[in-house]
This record gives sequence, structure tokens and C-alpha cells, in this order.
Amino acid sequence: MNREGKMVYLVTGGAGFIGSNYIHYLFRRYQNIKVINLDKLTYAGNLANLTDLESNPDYIFVKGDICDPAVVHQIFLDYRPNYVVNFAAESHVDRSIGKPDDFIRTDMFGVFILLEAAKEFGIDRFIQISTDEVYGSILSGSFTEESTLRPSNPYSASKAGGDRLAYSYFATYGLPVIVTRASNNYGPYQYPEKLIPLFVTNAIEDKPLPLYGDGKNIRDWLFVEDHCDAIEFILRNGKNGEVYNIAGGSEKENIEITNLILELVGKPKNLIRYVPDRIGHDRRYSLDATKLKNLGWQASHNFREAIELTVNWYIEHPEWWKPLKSGEYLEFYKKHYKMEL
Ligand SMILES: NC(=O)c1ccc[n+]([C@@H]2O[C@H](COP(=O)([O-])OP(=O)(O)OC[C@H]3O[C@@H](n4cnc5c(N)ncnc54)[C@H](O)[C@@H]3O)[C@@H](O)[C@H]2O)c1
Repeated sequence: MNREGKMVYLVTGGAGFIGSNYIHYLFRRYQNIKVINLDKLTYAGNLANLTDLESNPDYIFVKGDICDPAVVHQIFLDYRPNYVVNFAAESHVDRSIGKPDDFIRTDMFGVFILLEAAKEFGIDRFIQISTDEVYGSILSGSFTEESTLRPSNPYSASKAGGDRLAYSYFATYGLPVIVTRASNNYGPYQYPEKLIPLFVTNAIEDKPLPLYGDGKNIRDWLFVEDHCDAIEFILRNGKNGEVYNIAGGSEKENIEITNLILELVGKPKNLIRYVPDRIGHDRRYSLDATKLKNLGWQASHNFREAIELTVNWYIEHPEWWKPLKSGEYLEFYKKHYKMEL
């Protein structure tokens, strides 16, 4: 606790999709907390995700890079966080294939800078948000926390580096680190380059939905609020040095998700455009989340209800996503999908 008797969270990447949902979740749940949001505001960081908290004296935004030791050091000096929850990352696989540099920097070196500060100042818990993508693809069965890591693109490889580096600070220095590996998230405030918000917003605007390959790649879908709840549960109840898989328990082919989105938005199937597959596209991700279930947590949202809620959120908030689909976004889109938006 700090001098005001509050538990202090340092949430990095809190202006992004999951980080901003997590900050909202924390303030809905607790009164006695202070949250420092350290975010570099890359193209994926958006302060519009958090406007409702701007006047809250217990919420502090710091614009800065987790790779900058001076900034991170100053935050530890000023606020002495009890918990670090590290969401900050370059997170889009397609961008990592074109230009891996920032991924290696933020997703590995940035983790190192945060761990060093936590080691120097001391900390109650350090949660490293990793991903199911570190395991690579699996055609049948599911990965447990003991499975071999076989990341297959620069994004997942750099996340695997950060994941294991965080563990090494537990094994070597006894830092209270826990690593979480969640499946694909969906929900409000997701940057519209990822499959669900991209397809929902394109469908709303009667634009084509670019579907990779044969559309049969499988992902397990986790509602972002369940993810936030699981992180908090693990922060309170998990064991230091452990890894926890967080699964939604809703495996779907991309084509199934696409058809469902078109149905929910009320648009025809002829909006689907098959595009050449992503290079090295992992076929299926699947997590065994028995370990977390045995600890006492499982996802509580039903997929159908949560996806309806998500689609409706994008329908009701064009003022949030329309400005994002401009400028560099359009250039990336055109180059990547070889089509205009
Ligand atoms: N989205 C998913 O489905 C999913 C699933 C499992 C795990 N994850 C992990 O969860 C975390 C958050 O994912 P997301 O989807 O919210 O990502 P996002 O791209 O929406 O947000 C990332 C945030 O990090 C910030 N950031 C990037 N580099 C930074 C740096 N050097 N210093 C400070 N801030 C920086 C960005 O400005 C942005 O606000 C990532 O670590 C990702 O690997 C995501």
C-alpha cells in the first residue's frame, strides 16, 4: 500500500485494447487503488479508451516507453507500485511479418527494463501478459503449460522471449513473477485491424471482409472481460514462478466467426473476399486451462452473448472506430490485403 493506504498498480500498455479494459475493470471492482498507466501511444494506443477516467485522481497516465529505463525508474521512484501488469507490446502478427524490429524491442527488451526496476525497488507481484501464440499451432489436442514453446512468427517469438525472461527473474532472483498465456480476445476498444473489429466495422460500412486462405484456421475466443477477471484472479491467487493458460473455451473456424458477424450486422455473405493466406499462418491454437480451473477460475461469459454485445458496441460507437480507419491504417491495409478499403 502507498502512503494514502492504496494498492498501486503499474499497468503498462493501458491505452491499448486489453489494458484499457483491465483498467476499467479495476476501477469497477476496487475503491482503494491507484493505477499508473504507462503507455507509449503507438498507433494501437488510444486515450479515447479511457476518457471517463481523466478526472479520477487515482488514475495517472504517463506517456512513455517501457524500453526507457529513466521513465520506468522515475515511475517506481514516484509511485512504488505493488503490482506490475505488463500488457505493453507490439501485438499484430501481420505487422511483425513486415517489420519485426519494434516487436523484438518492446516485447523482449521492454520486459527486461520493467523486470530490472521491479528487482531494484521490490514488488508484490509482476504479471507478464504472454499469449497462447508462444506454443505455435496444434492440429489436435490442446497445449498445457508444460508444452514445448514453438512460436512461428516474429510476434510470437518475441512474446516467448519476454515470457521466459520474466520467468528467469523468478528462478534467478526470486522476483514474484507470474506469466499468463491467454487465447484470442474480443470485445470493446479493440483496434480495427484484428479480425473481429475489422470484420464488424467493414460489414457495417458494406466493405469487403478479407478472409485468409480457406477460412478454416481455428482460434479459441476469450471475451476481454473474462480475461481481465482471470488476470486479477491470478494476481491474487496464483503461485509465483507459475504459468497459467487462460482459455475462452470457444474454438471457432474463422469462417464461422465471419458468418456470425455478417448475421449479427445483418449483411450478405457476398461481402466475404478470400485473400492469399498469411505467411506461416498457424492453423489452430488450443489451450488446456485445467490448471487455472483447478485454482478456482473459469470464463463466465457465454460466447454467443458476448459476441452479440461486442458487435453491438461497435455498431453503437462509430465515433470511436471511424477516426482510426484513416491515414497509415489505410496504407497498411492496401499494401497488406492488396485492396482498397
Ligand atoms: N489481443 C489478444 O487477443 C491477445 C491475446 C493474448 C495475449 N495478448 C497480449 O496482451 C497484451 C495486450 O494486447 P492488446 O491486444 O491489448 O494490444 P494492443 O496492441 O491493443 O495494445 C498494446 C498497447 O501497448 C502500447 N505500447 C506498445 N509499445 C509500447 C512501449 N514500448 N512502451 C509502452 N507502451 C507500449 C501501445 O501504445 C498500446 O496501447 C499484449 O502483450 C499481447 O501480446 C493479446
